[in-house]
Amino acid sequence: MIWQVKCWTEQGESEWSEPHWFELGLLGPGDWSARWIKPAEPVRPAAGRRPAMFVRGEFELGGPAVRGRLYATAHGIYEVFLNGSRVGDAELAPGYTEYHRRLQVQAYDVTALLRPGRNALGAILSDGWFRGQVGLPRSHDQWGSELGFLAQIHADLADGSAVVTGTGEGWRSARSHIDTADLIAGQSADLRRLPQRWCDPGFGTAGWDPAAVAGDGYSNLVASPAPPVRATAELAPVAVRPVPGGQVFDLGQNLNGWVRLRDLGPAGTAITLTHGEAIDSGGDVTTRHLVVDLPFIPEPLPAGQVDRVIAAERPGEAFEPRHTTHGFRYVRVEGHPRVLTAADLAGVAVHTDMTRTGWFRCSDERINRLHEAAVWSFRGNACDIPTDCPTRERAGWTGDYQVFVPAAAFLYDVAGFTTKWLRDLAAEQWPSGLVANLAPSPPAESQGGFLAGMNGSAGWGDACVIVPWEIYRAYGDRRLLQEQWPSMAAWLGYVERSAAGARHPERAERRPEPLPHERYLWDSGFHFGEWLVPGTDLKGPAEFEEFRRSDQADVATAYFAHSARLMSRIAAVIGRTADAGRYARLADRVRAAWQAEFIGADGRLHPDTQANHVRALAFGLVPSGLRAATAGRLVALIRAAGTHLSTGFLATPQLLPVLADTGHLRVAYQLLCTDTMPSWLYMIDRGATTVWERWDGLDADGVPCESLNHYSKGAVITFLHRYVAGIRLLDGAPGYRRFEIEPRPGGGITWAQARHDSPYGRIESAWRLNGGELILALAVPPGTTAAVRLPDGSGRTVVPGRHALRCAFPPQEGR
Ligand code: BGC
Repeated sequence: MIWQVKCWTEQGESEWSEPHWFELGLLGPGDWSARWIKPAEPVRPAAGRRPAMFVRGEFELGGPAVRGRLYATAHGIYEVFLNGSRVGDAELAPGYTEYHRRLQVQAYDVTALLRPGRNALGAILSDGWFRGQVGLPRSHDQWGSELGFLAQIHADLADGSAVVTGTGEGWRSARSHIDTADLIAGQSADLRRLPQRWCDPGFGTAGWDPAAVAGDGYSNLVASPAPPVRATAELAPVAVRPVPGGQVFDLGQNLNGWVRLRDLGPAGTAITLTHGEAIDSGGDVTTRHLVVDLPFIPEPLPAGQVDRVIAAERPGEAFEPRHTTHGFRYVRVEGHPRVLTAADLAGVAVHTDMTRTGWFRCSDERINRLHEAAVWSFRGNACDIPTDCPTRERAGWTGDYQVFVPAAAFLYDVAGFTTKWLRDLAAEQWPSGLVANLAPSPPAESQGGFLAGMNGSAGWGDACVIVPWEIYRAYGDRRLLQEQWPSMAAWLGYVERSAAGARHPERAERRPEPLPHERYLWDSGFHFGEWLVPGTDLKGPAEFEEFRRSDQADVATAYFAHSARLMSRIAAVIGRTADAGRYARLADRVRAAWQAEFIGADGRLHPDTQANHVRALAFGLVPSGLRAATAGRLVALIRAAGTHLSTGFLATPQLLPVLADTGHLRVAYQLLCTDTMPSWLYMIDRGATTVWERWDGLDADGVPCESLNHYSKGAVITFLHRYVAGIRLLDGAPGYRRFEIEPRPGGGITWAQARHDSPYGRIESAWRLNGGELILALAVPPGTTAAVRLPDGSGRTVVPGRHALRCAFPPQEGR
């Protein structure tokens, strides 16, 4: 279907746009005639050590094709080939979803690869997420224990006839040259065993086994709203150093992906590549901080991230794994007979190929580096699903994306990427309405195992409400809210019942008779709470157990109130008037319960932590008359910590905005610009190129602790976009139909600029301080209006176009 756009406005008529097109794929089970096939696997080693398998079949075309389409998917990861050529440039297909209910099918244009006569279609299949190791516990065989491949070709021939063919009877399989392939452990290949032309027509399959035709159905097959994962950038090493036994390549950037090694040496050379985020004091790669060593698991689980290749010495030979990814900046290469140079290796960044939509720069280079680190952390954690880290877990932790989604939606077009993920979140929601902590949620982590009992944590499960809301604000698409409504409503139902149905044992002991407000106090179930507050490490199983049982009602009830409030707004947007009223009343009651429990008679908040004050202000939980006092107490707590933050996982993103909104902009800038622990610039000063999971990710001696690539704390860049550059979304005008520009200079920054490609077009805000004046240059896209507010309090509404505004801005003292 070809389509073009033209628009008529009060300013006249536009030209027709360039023609674009779309076509429909296979819409339902009835469109499939190909059958699932399974490679013969007489021996199946333990997960992490399983080989990738070849499958291939041939078909006949009676003449040249004028149009060819291939539809393919797999149980496991597939790479597909037609007549010797790799089809498409998608990596790690079919991607990671809640496979039982949602398995994605990719469609490829293969017109140019089809030929009259015999054609050969083949694939390399590996374990991937489907049955390889996933998550912190390294669980495996989560969605099935057998690999499978399903592919269907539709060829329209020049003579007007059509051929539909695909996987089924007659396909054969063999073990590939990839001896092991696992997303966590890594990949090893013996290129001497790569059969030449294995996917050309007529290749002799003596020694190959018949692939079994399987009865697996088509009912879970879906198209993807997200762009595919691709190799999106290549990085040249910035340094190569010798270490005992090999060489270490430094890519200068922590990323998710793999390397391309261009020289493998003489046939039989066995090379080992170890990927890591950090180096030790001797300059060698260390992955010790990525080993999973927890009080409640019997034995430490290895970090993985090791690839191996044996050279065949064929012309143009290179190693690029493709059936695994690693989180790394450094690679140790061992086993090469010669001294390699930077030209021999490249880092390949691999993630969902989203369109970049947001940029920020300012006069402070360290803040620019912080912004860049957050961008790279998102790139490193957007490999088909939003993850916590690309190393230790690579899991779709809901809380992590919940805190980062506003930043993500400024930097990239994440509409499709997020819609895909939310569908998985909803697909695996428990019958009770509980939202699992991970999406997708491997069965071992929701139906058993040590993580199962932690599901449904406040601030994590609330992602089902907060994420669609933020996506709606950024793109204005109501359909996602409508689509996700049942999931959100089920979660709120679960929370409401949990709050009403149980009490924390300590509260019950303190106060045997429940007070009426406790019906709305969520003090049961497991909650991570604020999590990762500086200086609150859990040491040993006993401390963990104590934490597991602790009362986190201040955090959980705050999220209950916040999500109920958002539900009321969402209901209004999608025309559910009665629900809007019901959730508004619920939000009021939950807020009253929170106040009854956590605001003392003297107006002070309990617990008396920065995080609690931040959350209370951000979620509107304190009565308006108390806001100034609450903000004052927050500042006092910050001062008492030597002008340092002491927030953890959940409240950190809201800290600077809350300070700026309550009249403490200067304190917000002081925290942003602080470079002693804990602070963002402490990371940057220690060379972080991605954001660390912990404030002390590298200790004073440079020894790493936990992940060095977690985007959660990078959510602070939203302050750069919305306050420093001042581009602000409005709730009532989603997609930037109307927006605000309100730069709030500070921190000694003398100029800042941000650009965002909104659904209406490019928004720009660029200001500089010059001789006691602030000069602001703006771009407002067609169809929008911007309310501009300047630091001197003046303001005006501006229409589409470019504008320059000025106001007095006397020089500030200090930061
Ligand atoms: C992950 C987090 C996640 C958390 C839950 C960690 O192991 O890496 O980012 O949200 O667990 O608290």
